[in-house]
Amino acid sequence: MKFQWTNATKVVLALCGVATLGVLSFTRKGTVTNDIAALRKAYSSGDYKQWPAPMIDPSVKASFQDIGVLPAVSHPADNPSNPEKIALGKMLFYDPRLSVSGQIACASCHDPQLGWGDGKRVAFGHDRKLGGRNAMTLWNVAYYKTLFWDGRAESLEDQAQFPIKDHLEMNQSLGAMEKKVKSFKGYEPMFEKAFGSKEVNINHILKAIACFERTITSGKSRFDLFITGKSDALTDQEVLGLHVYRTKAGCLNCHNSPLFSDNQFHNDGQTLWGSKNEDLGRYNVTGNKADIGKFKTPSLREVANTGPWFHHGNFPTLKDVIFFYDLGNPAPIQDKYKGTARDSLLPTTSPLVKKLNLTDEEVNALVAFLGAITTTPRRLQPPVEFPQ
Ligand code: HEC
Ligand code: HEC
Repeated sequence: MKFQWTNATKVVLALCGVATLGVLSFTRKGTVTNDIAALRKAYSSGDYKQWPAPMIDPSVKASFQDIGVLPAVSHPADNPSNPEKIALGKMLFYDPRLSVSGQIACASCHDPQLGWGDGKRVAFGHDRKLGGRNAMTLWNVAYYKTLFWDGRAESLEDQAQFPIKDHLEMNQSLGAMEKKVKSFKGYEPMFEKAFGSKEVNINHILKAIACFERTITSGKSRFDLFITGKSDALTDQEVLGLHVYRTKAGCLNCHNSPLFSDNQFHNDGQTLWGSKNEDLGRYNVTGNKADIGKFKTPSLREVANTGPWFHHGNFPTLKDVIFFYDLGNPAPIQDKYKGTARDSLLPTTSPLVKKLNLTDEEVNALVAFLGAITTTPRRLQPPVEFPQ
C-alpha cells in the first residue's frame, strides 16, 4: 500500500473506538481494466446492458438497483405540491422566529451556500450549544424512505417537528410556535393561497416546509449527462473512478440506486464506542442489538460540497473517506470491554466493509468521480422580508 497517512486519517482512526476488525486478510482481486476508451464507450452508450457487470455481494442482490438518473420527485397524496405552498414553505424554512430565541431558522443549519448543511463537524443551535451529530445535507431528501442518521422520522412532514422541539436546536414547543406564526398576520394570505384556508396550524406549517424541501433536488450532474450519451462529459480519471466505484471498491453494495443510497442502515465501524462521542445510531430507535452502530447510507450526490463527512463529521476530506474504506476499517478491538457490563452492546462492523487494496490512481479516481456527481451550486435567493 503506497498512500501516505494523513494526520486527519490518523485522528479519525484513533477516534474510532472499538469496531471489529472485519476480515483483514480478505483480498479481492480487482478486475479493473485500464482500457478507458472501452469503458467510456460502454458507460456512455445509454444502455445498461453494455455496462460492465457490477461487483456486489450476494447478500445485496435481491434489493440491488444500479446507479443512474434520478426519477421525478413524487409527493404524498395528502400533501400535493403547488407553487404557493413551496413559497410558504421556503419562507418558514428561513424564518428564525420559529425558534424560541427568534434567532435560529432551519436555514441556519441547512444553508444552500454550504451544501444545505452548515459546514461544521457537528451543528450548534440554541444558546450555541453543540449537538451530537453532523447537520445532514438536504440535497435530494425527497428520495429517502426515512430521515435522520438513525432513520427516526418516517416522512419530511414528520421530521420537521423534531428540530423545532429539540432543546439543542430551536427549542420551541409546537403549540408556542403555532401561536407565534399565527400572530404574524402577514402569513395568512400565504396559507390561504397554499391550502385554500387562511387557518394557520401546525399541520399546515409542517406540510409547507416539507413541500419546499422536496424541491431541493440535484440538477443533472456530469455523470448523468455521460450515461445518457454525452460521452465527453467525464474525464478519463472520472471514467476510471466510476468503474472502480461499481466494481473493485464495493461502494455499490450500499451507495446504489440513482440516489447513490440503498435507503438502508449499515455499520461502517464509526460508533466511536467507549468514547464520549459514542453513538449507537439506529439501535437507539429500534432497541434491536443487530442495529448497534448502524447509520443511514447517505446519498453521495452533491457530496463534494457537503463536508465534513459522516454522522460525526470527523472526516475533513473525501480522500480521508476513501483511505478509510480502503483499509477496511482496521480499528483496534478494545478487548478491555470484553466481559464488562456493556459488552453485549459491542458493535459489529458490516462484512460489506472490506480491505480493498486500491492503488493511488484508483483512490484519486474515486475522489474525482465523487466530483462528477456533484453539481455547480445554484444561487437561491433567501427571503428579504418576513411577513409581519
Ligand atoms: C441547530 C441546527 C439545526 C437546525 C436549526 C435544523 N436542523 Fe435539520 N438537521 C440537523 C442535524 C444535526 C441533523 C442530523 C440529526 C440526526 O440525525 O440526529 C439534521 C437532519 C435533518 C433532516 C434529515 C435529512 C436526512 O437525510 O435524513 C432534515 C430533513 C432536516 N434536518 C430538516 C430541518 C428543518 C425542516 C429544520 C427547521 C424546522 C431544521 N432541519 C433545523 C441540524 C439542524
Ligand atoms: C456497508 C455499506 C457501505 C459501503 C460498502 C460503503 N459505504 Fe459509504 N457510507 C455508508 C454509511 C452507512 C455511511 C454513514 C456512516 C456514518 O455516518 O457513520 C456512509 C458514508 C459515506 C460518506 C460520507 C457521506 C456524508 O454525507 O457524510 C461517503 C463520502 C461515502 N460513504 C463514500 C463511500 C465510497 C466511495 C464507498 C466505496 C469505496 C463507500 N462509501 C462504501 C455505507 C457504506
